Amino acid sequence: MKPSAIPQNWSDRLADLELQGLRRSLRILESAQGPYVTVSGRSLMNLSSNDYLGLAAHPHLIRAVKQAVECWGWGAGGSRLVSGTMGIHADLEARLASFKGTEAALVCSTGYQANLAAIRSLAGRGDVIFLDKLNHASIIDAAFARGHAGFESPAVRVFPHRDYSRLAQLLERTRSVGRRIIVTDSVFSMEGDFSDLSAIVELKKRHDALLIVDEAHATGIWGERGRGLAEAMGIAADVDVTVGTLSKALGGLGGFITASRAIIDWLVNTARPFIYTTALPPAACAAAMAALDIIDREPDRRLRLVELAAWFRDEVTGRLGLDIAGSCSQIVPVVVGPADRAVELSRNLEEAGFLVPAIRPPTVPRGKSRLRISLCSEHRRTDLVRLIEVLGRIWRSE
Ligand SMILES: Cc1ncc(COP(=O)(O)O)c(C=O)c1O
Repeated sequence: MKPSAIPQNWSDRLADLELQGLRRSLRILESAQGPYVTVSGRSLMNLSSNDYLGLAAHPHLIRAVKQAVECWGWGAGGSRLVSGTMGIHADLEARLASFKGTEAALVCSTGYQANLAAIRSLAGRGDVIFLDKLNHASIIDAAFARGHAGFESPAVRVFPHRDYSRLAQLLERTRSVGRRIIVTDSVFSMEGDFSDLSAIVELKKRHDALLIVDEAHATGIWGERGRGLAEAMGIAADVDVTVGTLSKALGGLGGFITASRAIIDWLVNTARPFIYTTALPPAACAAAMAALDIIDREPDRRLRLVELAAWFRDEVTGRLGLDIAGSCSQIVPVVVGPADRAVELSRNLEEAGFLVPAIRPPTVPRGKSRLRISLCSEHRRTDLVRLIEVLGRIWRSE
């Protein structure tokens, strides 16, 4: 396309998005996050949040934040390598390393930055990164980002979603290059399905590759102690690097990486998304530690969610006969197809009292727009029964 063919006018570009059913806008909540929220004066059941355990406004977290602000103030004042590392950052890192059973941990400002930091610093010239096609955008962005001056980008190979025989083939063909690095989500954010970590670990061992697993949607929920899917599958010790976030089941803000001491020290020295940004506010660290307390003390919360999600998936597939994209988790997508139909369904659900986002391209492939229902341990089953009834009625009447 010639440069002159690209509309220069932002309003025209927005109008074009609108025509395709792809324009997005910001929705303003008038209440705290939680399983039920207020929008435009109405109480809605919130099925749009990653606050899977209902911790975002939990009194234990609020108390911890207040105490941290009293003790440490609000701002971190600088980047972690300058003067931004406070005792509470070190405490949180020690706690995360012990939670994940690794030598060390590194806290970043967001999960997005944690992926950028880990992938950009561990993969460089001569290396090849292997990606599941449906990995989260932060992984894709990290792998494909163009380097700064003096940095030579790694090669990238993408395998079809969960196609591990294709991954095996790709690994075979790249035997002669530098380091091979496999990166996968554990629970996929828009499908809610699981990667087969056992199969990946086998390939990683056979090909002497490094394995990075993003446990953003699994931390706090899956595994006997809520450590993540790697714990649930019994292969946690074979994961070289785990990326996680403090912003989903932990209900707050921030990202983290757990790995060996040598890898974490390497990241401290080289990871630009860690180095060139202000440290996380101390109160966010306090909130994360309070969330970890609850995850340790109240296993019932995650067990309730896992059980509720299994029942809900059965109802949506069995009773309504809808396509949930292979979900086996608390993220239950309902695949709709065209973007405008997904938006219409989402609007109708909102009118009926349910906040369910329509997820459209580029977040999901064209023709695979969907409703993304994310469940919380604190949702009432009676309300979910009503959601299923309403969804079935709206679906049939469209
Ligand atoms: C799989 C995955 N990784 C990383 C992130 C980024 O986490 P954060 O929201 O903390 O930046 C997300 C966020 O949606 C995610 O789904």
